[in-house]
Amino acid sequence: MTDQPPAPDSDIPDGIARDLPGKPTSASRTTLSHIMTANETNLLGTVHGGVIMKLVDDAAGAVAGRHSGGPAVTASMDEMAFLSPVRVGDLVHVHAQCNWTGRTSMEIGVRVMAERWNESTPAQQVGSAYLVFAAVDADGKPRAVPQVIPETERDKRRYQEAQIRRTHRLARRRAIMELREQSTAEGLGD
Ligand SMILES: CC(C)(COP(=O)(O)OP(=O)(O)OC[C@H]1O[C@@H](n2cnc3c(N)ncnc32)[C@H](O)[C@@H]1OP(=O)(O)O)[C@@H](O)C(=O)NCCC(=O)NCCS
Repeated sequence: MTDQPPAPDSDIPDGIARDLPGKPTSASRTTLSHIMTANETNLLGTVHGGVIMKLVDDAAGAVAGRHSGGPAVTASMDEMAFLSPVRVGDLVHVHAQCNWTGRTSMEIGVRVMAERWNESTPAQQVGSAYLVFAAVDADGKPRAVPQVIPETERDKRRYQEAQIRRTHRLARRRAIMELREQSTAEGLGD
């Protein structure tokens, strides 16, 4: 069972900042656009995946900073999918929004679209990713973030899907930690 997205006037669950007003998804939604050049290719002549990942991290970081109202760092990036190659001369649009918030972390969902820079054909989706950002204070310590308030039906679905990913991330991390502790207790090295 996943949490329902918070309504603006809902009770705030334990562990969530109570003194910060919630922020709607649209307040921090961001698009970053970039024309791909020959400097950004891999040995096959298409755009290097790392170039796209940098744009994804940049767009998600802008959303995390806007939503949290200050500095935020990338804690993890998962489910980065490359659906089609990006070519020199493609105008790439990286759309990012805050899907979910915890106490100090935010899941940012990113969709990457590409269209020819000089043609009026519709943009195609070429990638997607989910990133977790942690808001940090001046000492780099996690700080509380406002709850995100999903507005549309799509925002609400994304909130619920992000909650499932969060549950799986925590379970996976716990399982790995337990296995490592067990290996250490049994005197087994790395
Ligand atoms: C991310 C970071 C701030 C977490 O600090 P921490 O002392 O482990 O703090 P916590 O365990 O309280 O984690 C803070 C939040 O981040 C989440 N988080 C931490 N590590 C995570 C991971 N690997 N994946 C997903 N979420 C993560 C926690 O669940 C928590 O969320 P919540 O408060 O909403 O429940 C810290 O590990 C860090 O500074 N990492 C380096 C970040 C960085 O420099 N990124 C750029 C790469 S060059």
